[in-house]
Amino acid sequence: MNFQFWRQFSKVSHFGNRLLSSLNQIPKSSKSSISFISPLTMITQVSVLDPNTFIFSTTNLEDPHFTTTDPNAFQILEHAAKLLSEDQVIAIPTETVYGLASNALSSEAVKKIYAAKNRPSDNPLIVHISSLKMLKSLLPNNSEIPSIYEPVIKKFWPGPLTILLPKSDLIPSEITCNQPTVAIRFPSHPIARALISTCGFPLAAPSANTSGRPSPTLASHVLTDLDKKIPLIIDGDQCNFGVESTVLDAIGSKDPLILRPGGVTYEALVKIPGFENLKVYNKDFVNKKYEITPTTPGMKYRHYSPDAEMLLVDVVGNKVMNIIDREIQNFKNKTIGILITQQNAKLSDNIQTIFMNGPLKCSSVSENPMKSNQNILQYILGDSLQPKQIARELFKGLRYLDECKVDLIFVEGISEEEEGLAVMNRLRKAATKIIYE
Ligand code: TXA
Ligand code: MG
Repeated sequence: MNFQFWRQFSKVSHFGNRLLSSLNQIPKSSKSSISFISPLTMITQVSVLDPNTFIFSTTNLEDPHFTTTDPNAFQILEHAAKLLSEDQVIAIPTETVYGLASNALSSEAVKKIYAAKNRPSDNPLIVHISSLKMLKSLLPNNSEIPSIYEPVIKKFWPGPLTILLPKSDLIPSEITCNQPTVAIRFPSHPIARALISTCGFPLAAPSANTSGRPSPTLASHVLTDLDKKIPLIIDGDQCNFGVESTVLDAIGSKDPLILRPGGVTYEALVKIPGFENLKVYNKDFVNKKYEITPTTPGMKYRHYSPDAEMLLVDVVGNKVMNIIDREIQNFKNKTIGILITQQNAKLSDNIQTIFMNGPLKCSSVSENPMKSNQNILQYILGDSLQPKQIARELFKGLRYLDECKVDLIFVEGISEEEEGLAVMNRLRKAATKIIYE
């Protein structure tokens, strides 16, 4: 895609205005015809909404209602809901990463998610809800929510936590890939909540990347992967968490299990009554069963990987730059990207440095920032003592360096505490090589 265009496009964008298409501006009168355009000629429309304009009237999660101060918001939401009710697939912001959403109650709609992102058909999807009322309608024979989940729902929903529940016949088998459980999440992102509520049906949504690539945390990332494959991206700015939700199974075995670490940390979950013996997959236990059917995300397939070769320096502390300096000698004449914490960044004339949340906030690369005498570009992820910052920037940093067309990327490992557990889980899966020392 044309990044120069995207940059201009994001510069002129103002929240609340409806912005159109990566190709052409679509005249208002033809918008309803998008759903009839064949996939080969599909135009991807981008609509910008400000999440801060949404107000949820009550803290009661049973059946929350919302309002918005943005006069255009309802029109955009209704347009999106119409596409979804016609079994189309669209991209939406969530507090973790952008999601590729379709009607979770329609097999036809769900199949289109797998096609758009080229996802292996045995990798199950998460169902997103906007009320506990909606959740209860999805349980088998109107059964109750298992009591073990009550305190975690109370504490962490809406938010970046996905729980496994028994599957009812209402949920198409394409979502669960014939598992007896379904993964369900109540997102906290105001746009995701408002959209699901406007639809009145739950949305299936994996991350809105092409399978195997780093997850998208900006609308521009979605456009890079899925331009002309989906009719609409709702741009709600950068995702706050930057890594996906924690996937929690408290009904499948004796002890509750974190199948995928994510936005809700192990440290927070283990404090909850009933979760004292919480185990983390791949750290506290492994099980071949989870690997064959990929119920533990990313076991079977390559995940989160940039185009460039990626070397993870799995060493915590201040030796990292020395190791990178040494390893770089093996790659003379290559352009190198480095994702590093602010503690270990090296400021030097030979290295071009990009600071997180600097000029990158909403744009993508328009020209390569490396000067002619440099072949190293370092991107500072944030403070290693604040893993939340690192998590938020991680996928954005990987994608940024890819857009700069570096040949290989070195990434500094961080401690596995708090959000660091999710960061290291993603990095170990994305790496082509891991350097321990
Ligand atoms: O934060 C998130 O969870 C994002 C946003 C969009 O909500 N979604 C997301 O979806 O990360 P996805 O498809 O990229 O990852 C969902 C993972 C899958 O890899 C799958 O292995 C696991 O959740 N999963 C889904 N259903 C499952 C089930 N019934 N049993 C075990 N694992 C399941
Ligand atoms: Mg994913």
